[in-house]
Amino acid sequence: TPIQFFISLIIVLGRVVICHTEISRSDFPDGFFFGTSTSAYQACVLTVLSLVSRWIEGAVSEGGKGVNNWDVFTHIQGNIASGDNGDVADNHYHVYKDDVEMMHSLGVNSYRFSISWARILPRGRFGDINPYGIEFYNNLIDELLLKGIAPFATLNHFDIPQELEERYGSWLSSLIQDDFAYFAEICFRSFGDRVKYWMTINEPNVYVKFGYLKGQYPPGRCSSPFGNCTYGDSETEPIIATHNLILSHLKASSIYKIRYQPKQGGYIGIALNCPMYIPMTDTEMDRQAAKRAMAFDVAWYLDPLMLGDYPSEVRNCLGNQLPKFSKAEMNMLKDSLDFIGVNHYITLYAKDCIHSACDLGGSHAIEGFVYTSGERNGIPIGERTGISRFFVVPDGLEKIIGYLKARYNNKPMFVTENGISSLDQTTEDSKRIEYHKSYLAALAQAIREGADVRGYFVWSLMDNFEWIYGYSMRFGLHHVDYHTMKRTPRLSAIWYKNFLTNDIQTD
Ligand code: NOJ
Repeated sequence: TPIQFFISLIIVLGRVVICHTEISRSDFPDGFFFGTSTSAYQACVLTVLSLVSRWIEGAVSEGGKGVNNWDVFTHIQGNIASGDNGDVADNHYHVYKDDVEMMHSLGVNSYRFSISWARILPRGRFGDINPYGIEFYNNLIDELLLKGIAPFATLNHFDIPQELEERYGSWLSSLIQDDFAYFAEICFRSFGDRVKYWMTINEPNVYVKFGYLKGQYPPGRCSSPFGNCTYGDSETEPIIATHNLILSHLKASSIYKIRYQPKQGGYIGIALNCPMYIPMTDTEMDRQAAKRAMAFDVAWYLDPLMLGDYPSEVRNCLGNQLPKFSKAEMNMLKDSLDFIGVNHYITLYAKDCIHSACDLGGSHAIEGFVYTSGERNGIPIGERTGISRFFVVPDGLEKIIGYLKARYNNKPMFVTENGISSLDQTTEDSKRIEYHKSYLAALAQAIREGADVRGYFVWSLMDNFEWIYGYSMRFGLHHVDYHTMKRTPRLSAIWYKNFLTNDIQTD
């Protein structure tokens, strides 16, 4: 229709304006961190044992690493596209020095990586510390510092020692809180003299959804059985896992704040998946739906950590199903974050499903009766990327930063992940360049409007194991040939380097 044509024209013109936005490093404050991100299981792991389908108790792999939940999950046929697994991943474990040199030649001043729990504690608290694991991360951190790159370490990026899953069901049990705190303290004690930025947990909100509702991450619990997933109580398990994740963060963060921060002088935060939801229509009902979607996805975690309790939007929906924090926990929670790590990829429309009928599948309990979509009247919210529901919507980043700034009193923030995937092998990725330029322009705008954002990390330094998509989905500034492990800079790597090293930027 003419109206649809007119709307598409406006979207295209808007995109043209954004694509030609000049952006330079000098648009960001002095001391701003520019980096890249990876995680242990996705890039680093080297598992020599062939785990056929079951975990062998006490089995370890190279460098003394214990078996983790992903080692087991990926070896169950049907769980991962093309039967891929992270056994070798990018072989970063062996070539970390070259990878650090690669970062150095990009000109980044920071690197976000995660510490494999099972490499430090192969059997969680039920076994010993692995000295080779400590040594590996010492070496990595030292190498980074030698090249002038600040280490930003995440303690839990979806991977846990399998033993904790088998013994007590990991995040479904409150026992995990002390296990996580124990692991965290070993890391603070071993690396905190050099690591000044810690993130306790990566995207707990995504992990809960995929691990305890959709059955696509370990432990593979789902609301309606399909494939290999185990039917779980999707009305309660996501809520319990969330509570344990929040209290695990609290315990680790309290230990850091009381015992380590005063001496070591670093900062502790969390990295949350922070989508932006905008109302599908201009009605009050859809505006409320968008607010609920934000609350269920973002504030469910950040309200406790910043304000001491679950958001009223979630409590109104879930009532007594939602656990309660004790007074002492509430007080401690309010002081448990020094910064918010913002992983931002998506902006979606939200539509009310309380007053109108929607097909929500089995996931309504965790989504607050909101239907979300990347399309309105058949028109996508932005250009599509490789992953369904991921669209290019640069001002979504400005909006989410604005949301967090308003809701959490402008707490310091880092964009701990932002990136775009492709399915192809090519190194000519001008789309990725346009993506980062446009998102950086949106971020610079948010900063000009007063947001306290202190860093931006591209996901990812190099192609790596993209969870259920295996190696088919590529996010890297560097292409990885998985046969030879050769890294080749894409055009986007060259662009990032120019952006970081030239003051006057870039086309
Ligand atoms: C967020 C996750 O933290 C990371 O592990 C993943 O690869 C990226 N999103 C891209 O999907």
